[in-house]
Amino acid sequence: THVDWDLDVAEKGGYPDFMLKEIHEQPRVIRDTLAGRLSAGALEIDELDLSPEELDLIDRVYVIACGTSYHAGLIAKNLIEAWARIPCEVEVASEFRYRNPIITPTTLVVAVSQSGETADTLAAIRDARVKGAKVFGITNVVGSPVARESDGVIYTKANKEIAVASTKSFLGQVVSLTLLAMLLAQAKGKLKTSQVRLLFRELADTAEQVERILADDAAIQEAALACKDASSALFIGRGMGAAVSYEGALKLKEISYLHAEAYAAGEMKHGPIALVDEGFPVIAIATKSPVYDKVVSNLQEAKARGAMVVAVATEGDEDIRAHADHVIYIPKVRDAFSAITASVPLQLFARAIAVARGCDVDQPRNLAKSVTVE
Ligand code: G6P
Repeated sequence: THVDWDLDVAEKGGYPDFMLKEIHEQPRVIRDTLAGRLSAGALEIDELDLSPEELDLIDRVYVIACGTSYHAGLIAKNLIEAWARIPCEVEVASEFRYRNPIITPTTLVVAVSQSGETADTLAAIRDARVKGAKVFGITNVVGSPVARESDGVIYTKANKEIAVASTKSFLGQVVSLTLLAMLLAQAKGKLKTSQVRLLFRELADTAEQVERILADDAAIQEAALACKDASSALFIGRGMGAAVSYEGALKLKEISYLHAEAYAAGEMKHGPIALVDEGFPVIAIATKSPVYDKVVSNLQEAKARGAMVVAVATEGDEDIRAHADHVIYIPKVRDAFSAITASVPLQLFARAIAVARGCDVDQPRNLAKSVTVE
């Protein structure tokens, strides 16, 4: 109705759509998700309801989720394995629930769900608990089924997310999962208190770094305009950058209907490079990391075949310009936190393309905000 529409406009807080409003809320989400988590130099996640001894016994982690939440899980895997040295698998809930995963009493299942009501994720939680796993939920909705049916829960402090394509919830999930990885590492004695403190401070700093990215989107807009008429696009990265690529491609296809797919960059030569011809957009996460040089050589391969390369790169990296048509610079952060900063320009990139293509960015066709049936 007319009244609802006026309300809608007011709720967008001056932004043209909810998606942009929600993208701009992300620095606040990072701050709120971290608030009160470090006490006397140690990390506190009381909601987990596991003693340090029980945490120390965990020897396998499954992250189960759907859609964007699954991508937050891919990022978490990198951190859990790197810091806590616990094997971690990430699986879409609809697969997990129909196989027979290896679950013991020392298995931790982490269910990630913005809405807390996704049918497949809930079914996977129930199944995991019957098999004896400890289940930990990460959700944005207080009192949701995922929260009620898990042994413990961290709430992402995103507040209500209205745009169907998830942005601020995703960032809240990544930050929450980062805390969980630090907590596991702390319990296993793999990270010292001083290291946890340092990591926490740098994690908190990402709020300001995201603010800086949001303050100037000129390069993102320019790259988006260059790509908007493509019929397909390829996102590539390695390590953290691979996980970010998957989410970048999902965001783009969800809201702009431009076909996009993501690959770990090392897989280029095993298939996707066949797609590349003159003007084909290749979006690369090429931030400074231990695999930076490898990503650059993948860019060179793409460029040599005429690709239009958009690189998300670290501020100060002038060399990257030689391998890219468009460079989107983001502040330098430790590789462990690069998914937080690198995801933000890709959200804006997807939105800019969707807007340029005349799409309804908040309510893409065929998609629902939460999927409560199988
Ligand atoms: C739907 C939404 C996605 C979301 C996915 C998982 O597909 O459109 O944005 O990532 O469900 O939802 P959940 O609430 O479980 O995170």
